[in-house]
Amino acid sequence: MDNTKPIGLFDSGIGGTSICTEVNKLLPNENTIYLADSKNAPYGQRSKQQIIELSYKNIDYLLSQDCKLIIVACNTATTNAITELRSKYDVPIIGIEPAIKPATLLTKTAVIGVLATKGTITSELFSNTVKKYSDIVIVEQIGYDLVKLIEDGKIDHPEMNLLLKQYLDPMIEKGIDTLVLGCTHYPYLIAQIKKLLPDNISIIDSGLAVAKQTQKILLEKNLLNTSPQSGTHIFYTNKDIEVLKMFVNDQSAVHYLDF
Ligand code: DGL
Repeated sequence: MDNTKPIGLFDSGIGGTSICTEVNKLLPNENTIYLADSKNAPYGQRSKQQIIELSYKNIDYLLSQDCKLIIVACNTATTNAITELRSKYDVPIIGIEPAIKPATLLTKTAVIGVLATKGTITSELFSNTVKKYSDIVIVEQIGYDLVKLIEDGKIDHPEMNLLLKQYLDPMIEKGIDTLVLGCTHYPYLIAQIKKLLPDNISIIDSGLAVAKQTQKILLEKNLLNTSPQSGTHIFYTNKDIEVLKMFVNDQSAVHYLDF
């Protein structure tokens, strides 16, 4: 296999760019292709079967571009479809799940909060993970409409603040000291979330962990790009190119694609 082939990433929209940033930081020589399936966002309100079919469509495109490894940069797609994806494709597939284990190691109050989409919180994979930590209280909260507002470019909109307050206040009342951001869109809300949380509550997401896992798998499979050149990065969206540009440093790397 040619090690210079790109890593393919996809998400229901712009959220997975938060993962792409971590991957590019840790693995600067890797080429990446990112798909924002914003036309079909949010995945979190869709059925498991729909999420599987959309994930197939995204991966089929990335494989047509010769990707050597796929990152499912979406908690909802991972928790609903990773088993089906791994059995369908031969290429290594890395997923992202809410960082419950790291949160259980960090908490002092033994009460943690998880903010994620409906699709993630109602998935079998998520509930099986939660069952493993019966000694910890896990306060689950569905972040209804947060992804939609972000996809509409309304991160700083007053409605966002209202929704976040509505979701976070009950978690604070229940005594969480650690908040898991279980959706790759949510790291873009950290500034607002911090304003609504007391200082003693830590926020964690899985971005860096995914980048490290990617590095480990590339090494194991002998797929690490050893070229001394910096990688090239391409970002495709099937909806509003201006919205994706808000989340990518090099705006000339962002393109519309009907996938
Ligand atoms: N970024 C996706 C995730 O990590 C959002 C899913 C959605 O579109 O609802 O879950």
